[in-house]
Amino acid sequence: MDPTYLRTVLAQWASGVVVVTTLREGGGRHGMTASSFTSVALEPPLVSVCLATDSTTCRSVRRSGVFAVNMLGHDHEEIGRRFASPADAGDRFSVPQRLSHPAGSAPAVPRWDTATTGAPVLADAVAWVDCVVAACHPAGDHTIVLGLVQDAAAPRPAPPLIYHDRTYYEGIAR
Ligand SMILES: Cc1cc2nc3c(=O)[nH]c(=O)nc-3n(C[C@H](O)[C@H](O)[C@H](O)COP(=O)(O)O)c2cc1C
Repeated sequence: MDPTYLRTVLAQWASGVVVVTTLREGGGRHGMTASSFTSVALEPPLVSVCLATDSTTCRSVRRSGVFAVNMLGHDHEEIGRRFASPADAGDRFSVPQRLSHPAGSAPAVPRWDTATTGAPVLADAVAWVDCVVAACHPAGDHTIVLGLVQDAAAPRPAPPLIYHDRTYYEGIAR
């Protein structure tokens, strides 16, 4: 199977967009944009994300044993881009999201709170889940990380951010 062609085929799968956040060694924050989030079980409450094994996020999740999954809203495209950018990997949290924002849209500077595990959670995420690592399963060049949910919230009822064919879309309610 040609990997470039397979990547194009798999890009046809539409998904929501999350930011997986965790703690760096020494206590700083880190995170990456991801689309591989899945709700796995309710009893016990398990979720999964599939992280490139050589990513800083995967290494930090394995080391710290904690992570949060932040589900992005329709107006969070800039956060999605920033948390996927290698150029911003030093600190993806503190840079302003946009210069101004209309009422009801995402604020100029995203506010990150601290969840029970210590992982950062986006104050105006559509929803977030805060987890301890339950298991890590190698899968090719990725690691399937299973998280046992410690806390969860849905702070802002808003349409989601959607990713399809390498393009961001604003989800709309019908
Ligand atoms: C919409 C979108 C979804 C992504 N989903 C994943 C994913 O599920 N797993 C993954 O390992 N990388 C995913 N990435 C790529 C990472 O965000 C990117 O490689 C990031 O720079 C990794 O950061 P780190 O090395 O600092 O952890 C995605 C990127 C985008 C734009």
